[in-house]
Order: sequence, then structure tokens, then C-alpha cells
Amino acid sequence: MRQVTAIYPGSFDPVTNGHLDLIERASKLFDRLIVALLSNPEKDPLFTIGERVEMLREAVAHLPNVEVDTFDGLLVDYARRRGARVLLRGIRAVSDYEYELQMALMNRQLAPEIETVFMLPAEAYSYLSSRLVKEVARLGGSLKALVPPAVEERIRAKVLG
Ligand code: PNS
Repeated sequence: MRQVTAIYPGSFDPVTNGHLDLIERASKLFDRLIVALLSNPEKDPLFTIGERVEMLREAVAHLPNVEVDTFDGLLVDYARRRGARVLLRGIRAVSDYEYELQMALMNRQLAPEIETVFMLPAEAYSYLSSRLVKEVARLGGSLKALVPPAVEERIRAKVLG
């Protein structure tokens, strides 16, 4: 039978427990999961692409069918190069849906053979985002239960200098 490879793309600036929850769920569904970081985002990231890759690799080290990679250019071109048939995105709340729908339909227009699959993270993470994690860290709040301990340390070092 054909092996199904899925790509979970994003900025992961930084990876949160919500992302990791989704990665663990997806690693049970797909034969291979590639977590793909966009290396040239328009936004100004807190962490370099190398730092984000390192944090992700540490966090998924216990999942043998999960790989961390970077990509540039169109996501569907990268997916084709990697032989992936599925693009995975997490949806936390209805507010995510509009943006995700637009992206999924654009990607379908560009590559009709590739399916976008949406998954829900655990309810406990439905409010969690990398943006809010950075804001809480800047304002001195606790990141416990929001990101892995190693990521928390790196955020603190970055934000507090
Ligand atoms: O974590 P993010 O920032 O929501 O991830 C967005 C990402 C990386 C999935 C999206 O910006 C993307 O796929 N960029 C690559 C460029 C591309 O393919 N654009 C057309 C898709 S609509």
C-alpha cells in the first residue's frame, strides 16, 4: 500500500504545546509527518530559523516518523518535491477558519492532487498561539504548560536578554 506523507507547515516562532499536541496526533495517522518551517516569512520572527528548527527537533525527538525541515517558496511545490499528498493545519476556533479556508483553497487551485487536512488540538490548547506566548513572556507571565521547558528557557533568555 502507498505510504502517506503529510506536511505540517508553519512559522513555529516558537513551537508551543498546541503544535506538539497536533504533531503527536498526526504522527499516529500518517506514515510520515514532515514539520516544515517557512524560512523566509514576511513577519519579523523572535527566533532565527536555525533556533526554531533546533527547538522543534528536540521536541519531536521521541516520534520516529516525524521529521523537521525548512522550505522556501510555494508550499505546494515543496510538498510535491517531498512526495506529500496531505497538508496538515490545526484549527483552534472558528476565527481560524476563514484564513485557513482561503489558504487551503488557494493550495488546491495550485495543486489539486494535494489535500488539506484540518485537525483540532486538545481543548486545553484552543487559546494558545506563538504570538500570545511571546507577549506573556515579554510581560513576565508564566509559560508553564504552554511550551516545553527547553523552549521556555530559550524564550526567557531571548526576551530578558
Ligand atoms: O504558522 P503560519 O504563519 O500560520 O504558517 C503560514 C504558512 C507558512 C503555512 C503559509 O504562509 C505558507 O504556506 N507560506 C508559503 C507560501 C505559499 O505557499 N503561499 C500560498 C499559499 S496560500
